[in-house]
Amino acid sequence: MASSLIASCTVLSTTNPRHRIASTNNIARRSRRFHVSCNAADDKEGRVDRRNMLLGLGGLYGATNLILPDLNAYADPIQPPEFKSCGAAHEFKTGDPLDVNCCPPVSIADIVDYKLPTVTKLRRRQPAHRLSQSNIAKYEEAMRLMRELDVTDPDDPRGFTQQANIHCAYCNGAHDQLGFPGLDLSVHYSWIFFPFHRWYLYFYERILGSLIGDPDFALPFWNWDNPKGMQLPAIFDNPDSPLYDANRNQDHRPPAIANLARSDITDPVQTISENLAVMYNEMIGGVNSATDFMGQPYKAGDEVPETGMGGTSERGSHISIHAWVGDPRNQYNEDLGNFYSAGRDTAFYAHHSNVDRMWTIWQKIKSDYPKTISDTDYLNASFLFYDENKRLVRVAAGDCTDNTALGYEYEKVDIPWLNYRPLKNAEPVKTKDIARGALGSEKVFPVSLTKTVRVLVPKPSKGNADDLLVLEGIQTDSTKPVKFDVFVNDEADEPNELDKPEYAGTYAQLPHRVHSGKGKGSLRLILKELYENIDIGDQDSVVVTIVPRINGKDVTIGGVKIVPAQR
Ligand code: C2O
Repeated sequence: MASSLIASCTVLSTTNPRHRIASTNNIARRSRRFHVSCNAADDKEGRVDRRNMLLGLGGLYGATNLILPDLNAYADPIQPPEFKSCGAAHEFKTGDPLDVNCCPPVSIADIVDYKLPTVTKLRRRQPAHRLSQSNIAKYEEAMRLMRELDVTDPDDPRGFTQQANIHCAYCNGAHDQLGFPGLDLSVHYSWIFFPFHRWYLYFYERILGSLIGDPDFALPFWNWDNPKGMQLPAIFDNPDSPLYDANRNQDHRPPAIANLARSDITDPVQTISENLAVMYNEMIGGVNSATDFMGQPYKAGDEVPETGMGGTSERGSHISIHAWVGDPRNQYNEDLGNFYSAGRDTAFYAHHSNVDRMWTIWQKIKSDYPKTISDTDYLNASFLFYDENKRLVRVAAGDCTDNTALGYEYEKVDIPWLNYRPLKNAEPVKTKDIARGALGSEKVFPVSLTKTVRVLVPKPSKGNADDLLVLEGIQTDSTKPVKFDVFVNDEADEPNELDKPEYAGTYAQLPHRVHSGKGKGSLRLILKELYENIDIGDQDSVVVTIVPRINGKDVTIGGVKIVPAQR
């Protein structure tokens, strides 16, 4: 590296290739800037290495008299990928290139900044289990035509395989981040999760509508958050329908009830109760800021975000449905059980329609924190899609916040989890009464989750507070599905139900690829409401119980602490 400046930092002036490309597309941006590269080991956002790499491509200037600028000045929104540089997608388990090419067709026409059409009438997305016969017929006809394009013109970006490939390319490393060759772009486990998937469904829906000449066509949603909708909707389970996909878990065909908690409980009543408890927790009880729900920041140059950086809903019900539908007969749980293949299942789009609906519901739930993210690195994060006229268009996260501006709404149905806050226990548990056998954290960590871990954790202050429970240094085998649940002051040695006041949250991972094959991350759980639920009183420590559910042997936890939430 060039000459050293302060400690182990170098300041370099370079032209960022991303900005060169962007400016030809009429985005006014600074084209020349300074980069700081530090060998700090603790850059928590993993941004440093990649910038070093970028710098390696530009001119290097020893900078002995520069004042170190604020690192935040270099923050940047995620940029759309360059389709012509799309490469092989990777297999999660081995990191090997997949034998499918999921790159989009390259357009020679210019990229167009997408303008939302004026809305005259809202398309209404309805629950898939209550679709009328005529709407089912329309949906099937549209899907038939979309699948037909696969055969008549495989390069038509509106074809079903091309639509499915969008997900693969944006999720399995086929696209690099613009300006960061070799750095995978990933639309999961961060604050771009909701906006990316909203735009993706938006164009998918408009393509289906245009194929049948019906501008009012709306995708249905899989209403898995309501007991009435917790089975795979019947319209997807008819082998004669273009909505059918054979690559699903055969044990989970109707009338099996989806298990949002991914527990081993089979009793249907308990399953439904836990589903509602999970929904309440990820939508309300375990959320105390916009990024808790939406996901943590992900900016240009950042490494692929780890599971724990995802928002509560993405990490929770969203992942659970993927895993529940995916076919265990397939090596990588295709279709829905793996990101690269998920878009090949028509149920994906109904599933994500409900995920998107959760965003709209959360926006309206009363809260004492703001629901919007005003960081321009969020608002300006942008993506490319082909629209229903095969134009390559650019859209930004900040332009899809309001679903009605995008011309659609969700039919109102009962939301039974809204009032599913766990009931308090008649007698509050005292930490000292249940602390037997729980060790102090210095004695416990790091620990491999081969069995349930009970640990005594000090609180930063007595009584109720806006605290965070942080599980740090979580190392997982990223090629495996992993899940564990976390409880606070639970009397049971092995808590096995989630619909209780002591349930704090869950860590669930779908297999995904990182360069080293080892996932690393942390999990932050909000304790504010849990303290009230368990009547924490003036206790100054709690017992935290961590219960492995899936592949605990592939998880190591570095430490657990409780800290005041900083907002
Ligand atoms: Cu991009 Cu449900 O995943």
